[in-house]
Amino acid sequence: MPIPIVQIRDLTKIYIRDVIGTEFGQLKIRLKNRKVAALQSLTLDVEEGQIFGLLGPNGAGKTTAIKILMGLIFPTSGSATLMGKPLGDKSVKSKIGFLPENPYFYDYLKGYEFLSYYGQLYGMSAGERKKKIPELLERVGLSHAADLPLKGYSKGMLQRIGLAQALLNDPRIVFLDEPQSGLDPFGRKEVRDLILSLKEKGATVFFSSHILSDAEMICDRVAILNKGRLINVGALEDILSTRIKTYEIEAADMADELVRDMEAKSNLTLRRKQSVLFSMENQDQAIGMVKKIIDSGGNLVSFIPRRETLEEYFFRKIESKTSDHRTEIDRSSKSSSLNKQEDVNG
Ligand SMILES: Nc1ncnc2c1ncn2[C@@H]1O[C@H](COP(=O)(O)OP(=O)(O)OP(=O)(O)O)[C@@H](O)[C@H]1O
Ligand SMILES: [Mg+2]
Repeated sequence: MPIPIVQIRDLTKIYIRDVIGTEFGQLKIRLKNRKVAALQSLTLDVEEGQIFGLLGPNGAGKTTAIKILMGLIFPTSGSATLMGKPLGDKSVKSKIGFLPENPYFYDYLKGYEFLSYYGQLYGMSAGERKKKIPELLERVGLSHAADLPLKGYSKGMLQRIGLAQALLNDPRIVFLDEPQSGLDPFGRKEVRDLILSLKEKGATVFFSSHILSDAEMICDRVAILNKGRLINVGALEDILSTRIKTYEIEAADMADELVRDMEAKSNLTLRRKQSVLFSMENQDQAIGMVKKIIDSGGNLVSFIPRRETLEEYFFRKIESKTSDHRTEIDRSSKSSSLNKQEDVNG
């Protein structure tokens, strides 16, 4: 078995915030330590060549996990490896692409200049940049904007130039923090296609999202996070296919009596001009109804087993966790070793 390209083991991150303090010269009095468990014992693997979605609502810990993997902040405890090497390994950094959640753009640089600047940071020669940058601009649909200053870019265009930046070094793995945020449905589709094309070229894509329908279309595996805790991880087929939620039956030319019978058994009935749509949860009942429609001379328009979408799965799982205790831990007790773990970004 090849080593997973990302291995995360028991990763925990506690942020300290709302520290109300008074400073007297060097003396700092802490009145209260409020700690936020942004990640709690996260363990997961990502296989090379896959599209992996880290999913969860706001505040779930997605950005925190990605920042730790990128070496931007340090975990409170636990560990992780990228390409089998511990975090921070220099040989790994050059093989990674990264699009942060809120990338900072130098407003006065033009699209081409921006990519050229990053290309220089990656150590690309002038020749390499001249070849690579137009290719990338084309790939993200920004060829026309190469000479426009970034301050004239729309949110979607900025997101796309950020993606181009993340791909400059032909990374073996790309980390994209909410790559579809701020994009209209068309822009989201473009990002989806781009992610799929990266996979086709053999790259691994690790992205975070709360746009679940996008994740559903492209991810090989997903991890679902809520309040810093892993709720589930696995192949989408395994997570979703086991659960057919409802059976939708659309039929026409039915006797009134049968319509009433079905209405009583279904949890949703919609009457249309030509047909009636029923939705039922029970498989046997649904199949029985289909038989009745056909036997009574009715016209079966469609019979669709509707499996749970990732969105529905996600909300069901998260609802069932609402009784979990909150991640905020108010502490007024004496400092523990956790007190030392400050976010280096503030
Ligand atoms: N620098 C910080 N200092 C203190 N608390 C923080 C800091 N960064 C994040 N948090 C808290 O940690 C938790 C996880 O935040 P994180 O940004 O990782 O979530 P997220 O899943 O990326 O959310 P979103 O979907 O909104 O981007 C939240 O409760 C957040 O308020
Ligand atoms: Mg985030």
